[in-house]
Amino acid sequence: MRCESQTSQAEHEHDFLASVREGLRRQPKSIPPKYFYDTHGSHLFDLICTTPEYYPTRIEIGILERHGAEMAEMIGASCVLIELGSGSAIKTPLLLRHLSDDAVYVPIDICEPHLLHSTQRLQAMFPALTMQPLCTDYHRLPAHAFKRHAGRRQVVFFPGSTIGNCTPEGAIRLLQHAAEQVGPNGGLLIGVDCKKSPAVLNAAYNDAAGYTAAFNLNLLARMQRELGAQLDAEQFAHHAYYNEELGRIEMHLVSRCRQEIRLDRESFAFEAGETIHTENSYKYTAQEFQHLARSAGWHLQSTWRDGAGMFDVHYLSLSATEPLKLAR
Ligand SMILES: C[S@@+](CC[C@H](N)C(=O)[O-])C[C@H]1O[C@@H](n2cnc3c(N)ncnc32)[C@H](O)[C@@H]1O
Repeated sequence: MRCESQTSQAEHEHDFLASVREGLRRQPKSIPPKYFYDTHGSHLFDLICTTPEYYPTRIEIGILERHGAEMAEMIGASCVLIELGSGSAIKTPLLLRHLSDDAVYVPIDICEPHLLHSTQRLQAMFPALTMQPLCTDYHRLPAHAFKRHAGRRQVVFFPGSTIGNCTPEGAIRLLQHAAEQVGPNGGLLIGVDCKKSPAVLNAAYNDAAGYTAAFNLNLLARMQRELGAQLDAEQFAHHAYYNEELGRIEMHLVSRCRQEIRLDRESFAFEAGETIHTENSYKYTAQEFQHLARSAGWHLQSTWRDGAGMFDVHYLSLSATEPLKLAR
């Protein structure tokens, strides 16, 4: 199996260097979360998903197990399913098993080895389905990947509440862009983590096994490995907390002391306690998400939710009809 890639390794390294340099020059300092996901970071994310504290994976899987057949019926069993940020794609079989043999699956992810590995696994499970992995940044969805399937219903599958990593404005832009690509008959099946008790949220991003901390700190190790950054990773600590006012988990790397990072002949000074903001994970009520999606041109068709109201999976289309139902 071949994986189509939008960027060469050299372009990728150039992007990484430029983003880190620009992010460390900023006040407050920040680095986009997509750089967490090298092969090791992707593996650490899979481990996070196994922890008792990180409920979203477990709950979304439960929703897909219960309602996958109904979802497939709504999206159309012969569709082209385009998964954004597919990662290990552990939830995808719960949908693919209800699609017909002429369906096409297009997983999109930034981490090529991980993408290839998970698509090979899925192809072995579903040999009749056509699978076309595409390694690219989903903020730059290439039109040709969608034009190729013009005439068939194209449905974007975006699980894992990965949409929460965008700011609300960034999420609207991304969903607008997806809407333009899939065309008027297209659909969007998206997993969204709900607002809930700060204690539950804080625990989810501070698992006792320390996988989330390792995932966050791996960004520094990756800067050392790939960019030759000179830094003392031991002098940074993982910090994640729920910012209730902004409705988001914030993840930071906190400098334990006064120090500097040297990168490509430039030096970036840190005060003790100063942070690099590495991720946001916005949480939405169903109404907030519906409003956001509406601003991007999407109309809610159906919502599936777990019994405790922790996580929603929404199906949206580009034509306005009354929302059908809320299923638990
Ligand atoms: C939070 S994980 C979710 C993985 C999986 N979809 C799930 O539900 O468990 C985010 C995934 O999106 C990928 N990713 C993050 N930012 C990306 C970007 N800008 N473009 C493409 N893929 C991205 C990561 O490599 C990772 O596999």
